[in-house]
Amino acid sequence: MQEALQMLAAQAKAAIASADSSAVLEQLRVSYLGKKGELTAILRGLKDLAPEARAQFGALSNQVKQDIEAQIVGKSSALEESKYSKLATTEALDVTKTLPAAKSGHLHPITQTWMLIEDIFNRIGFEVASGPEVEWDKFNFELLNMPKDHPARDTQDTFYVSDEILLRTQTSPVQIRWMQNHQPPVRIIAPGRVFRRDYDLTHTPMFHQFEGLVVDKGITIQDLKGTCIYAMQSLLGSSTKVRFRPHNFPFTEPSLEVDASCNICQGKGCRTCKHQGWLEMAGAGMVHPQVLRNVGYDPEQVSGFAFGFGIDRIAMMRFGISDLRLLFEGDMRFLQQF
Ligand code: PHE
Repeated sequence: MQEALQMLAAQAKAAIASADSSAVLEQLRVSYLGKKGELTAILRGLKDLAPEARAQFGALSNQVKQDIEAQIVGKSSALEESKYSKLATTEALDVTKTLPAAKSGHLHPITQTWMLIEDIFNRIGFEVASGPEVEWDKFNFELLNMPKDHPARDTQDTFYVSDEILLRTQTSPVQIRWMQNHQPPVRIIAPGRVFRRDYDLTHTPMFHQFEGLVVDKGITIQDLKGTCIYAMQSLLGSSTKVRFRPHNFPFTEPSLEVDASCNICQGKGCRTCKHQGWLEMAGAGMVHPQVLRNVGYDPEQVSGFAFGFGIDRIAMMRFGISDLRLLFEGDMRFLQQF
């Protein structure tokens, strides 16, 4: 009997030590100590022994029972502990770790420039006007003093929708639309998309312009020059130089082209300005008396000036972009830089 008890104790000890979960441990507890357990069976047999032997084995079996109980308790807390230390590695959370910055969208460089232009002109009292991109030939050309056979039409290779309807080649038709519906004084800018059949490093079939128009009593070419200088210096920096060259547009007389000193090389000459030190920024001029008459204004009473700037060109200079086409390809690797 003593041997049986000792074997049982040794077996139990080994089994408890190698139990790897609390479920296995519970099974072991039941199989040794439960009502139908092995040790319980031995203890039950004690009553059949002689009193002397009963006392001896009674003490021994109680000892074995207590040992097994103690081992189970010890193992159980060891198992609990290892469960938590495992969790600490598998579920670890580093509260000091910084998160990658959340990505958010932003405005396209053209849109940023467009908004800045509106802001700069709002400050000196200009309203923002707009007109349709699909336009009547009449507004885009005829009322701007470019009848159907006018040679200057060749300089704006046009997308026609029909004989009378086209994609506007310039923002100048907004001048006509506005003047037909408003009396002087007029002071507007009209930013928008325009379309021409052109495609190379510096031309895309769709690009952006903003038109400016001022009509009132006593407007002179000095007002035009002052406004252009104000606009260029606000957009490209206060040290920007502006020069005016004679030109020809059917809807202005006299007509000018407006150049700004290249802000990439500070006028010294570089690839962007083709080593000229100057970049062509706008067409401008005093509104042709015939255009004023076309919208019902009296050129004896009022005079005005108009200009048309390329928004994309300004964006390229502000952001140092060398290829116009990059602005319209929608490549995120490019756009994310602005
Ligand atoms: N509309 C002309 C162009 O696109 C620019 C311009 C506007 C010239 C207003 C004079 C006056 O070329």
